[in-house]
Amino acid sequence: MKAIVVTDQTAGTTGMTLTDHRKPEAAGNDVLVEIHASGFTPGELSWSSTWTDRLGRDRTPSVPGHELAGVVTALGYGTTGLAVGQRVFGLTDWTRDGTLAQYAAVEARNLAPLPGDIDFTVGASLPISGLTAWQGLFEHGRLQPGQSVLVHGAAGGVGSMAAQLARDAGAYVIGTGRTTDRHTALDFGAMEFVDLGHDSPDDIGTVDLVFDTIGGDIGKRSAKLVRAGGTLVSIAGPPEARLTDALAIDFVVVSDRAQLTELAQRVRDGRLRTRIGKVATLDDAVAALNPTERVRGKTIIRVRP
Ligand SMILES: NC(=O)c1ccc[n+]([C@@H]2O[C@H](COP(=O)([O-])OP(=O)(O)OC[C@H]3O[C@@H](n4cnc5c(N)ncnc54)[C@H](OP(=O)(O)O)[C@@H]3O)[C@@H](O)[C@H]2O)c1
Repeated sequence: MKAIVVTDQTAGTTGMTLTDHRKPEAAGNDVLVEIHASGFTPGELSWSSTWTDRLGRDRTPSVPGHELAGVVTALGYGTTGLAVGQRVFGLTDWTRDGTLAQYAAVEARNLAPLPGDIDFTVGASLPISGLTAWQGLFEHGRLQPGQSVLVHGAAGGVGSMAAQLARDAGAYVIGTGRTTDRHTALDFGAMEFVDLGHDSPDDIGTVDLVFDTIGGDIGKRSAKLVRAGGTLVSIAGPPEARLTDALAIDFVVVSDRAQLTELAQRVRDGRLRTRIGKVATLDDAVAALNPTERVRGKTIIRVRP
């Protein structure tokens, strides 16, 4: 099958090559998916899981990309819950070959049915940012209707999903970002915007939840914005801030069929949008993932036209 592979950890996205790669087989509890659309996150090339398996053994050449939307073509031994011919989407295992390929073998529990009225391109853009936003807000942040949330990086992939989901859940949403992010952040659900280059977040008072997608100094400065009993959730590494009366949590997103289904339902209802910046074919994927000009929004590789 055709796939993008990486072999050189130091090369970044420029080390991606389109090649002929062995077609995967569905192991126990897996499904084999014919991929229609794939999502890739540049950060994954710095994760050890891209280069080694769970026992630390070299697994190159490895196929990057961990978001997919496609159609099930085979079931592994013992696989239940999905059927051959079913449209699916979801997040694949970090330590196995991924989705910049014509096929991927995935544990069935990591996928959910993709309703017929959601395009594969949209389906592949949802899993990482949607699940991360959902888990940060509702699992780790325990956000309740009527509470306030400060979303750092509210114009970004995760932040724009978090702003929409939080607002839809009845929270008061304050977004932050760069001056140029104001319009996008407000368009994607933030009710107020704090320009981190010019405004001081200290002026907004305290909130029930800070959702930090930026980290570093911005994360550190967020500690005093969390009210007593509130939570600071970070997806940009462990919070360096010390909180006395509040929780500080960092986490890595996991796939979850029920949450994927909730996200898909919101897309169908028009309550959730993803920000897709560029769509390219698998043949053009290496160039698309090494853009010469900045792409705002996610790049999706349309593996099958
Ligand atoms: N833990 C997990 O499970 C998990 C899951 C998904 C993502 N992540 C990580 O979370 C981070 C965010 O992911 P994403 O996909 O949302 O990225 P993204 O689309 O690049 O969004 C980040 C947003 O924050 C803005 N930003 C960054 N630094 C800023 C600063 N100093 N001041 C003001 N605005 C700033 C960015 O603006 P510019 O684009 O202009 O810089 C962008 O709008 C990444 O580091 C990613 O690797 C972690």
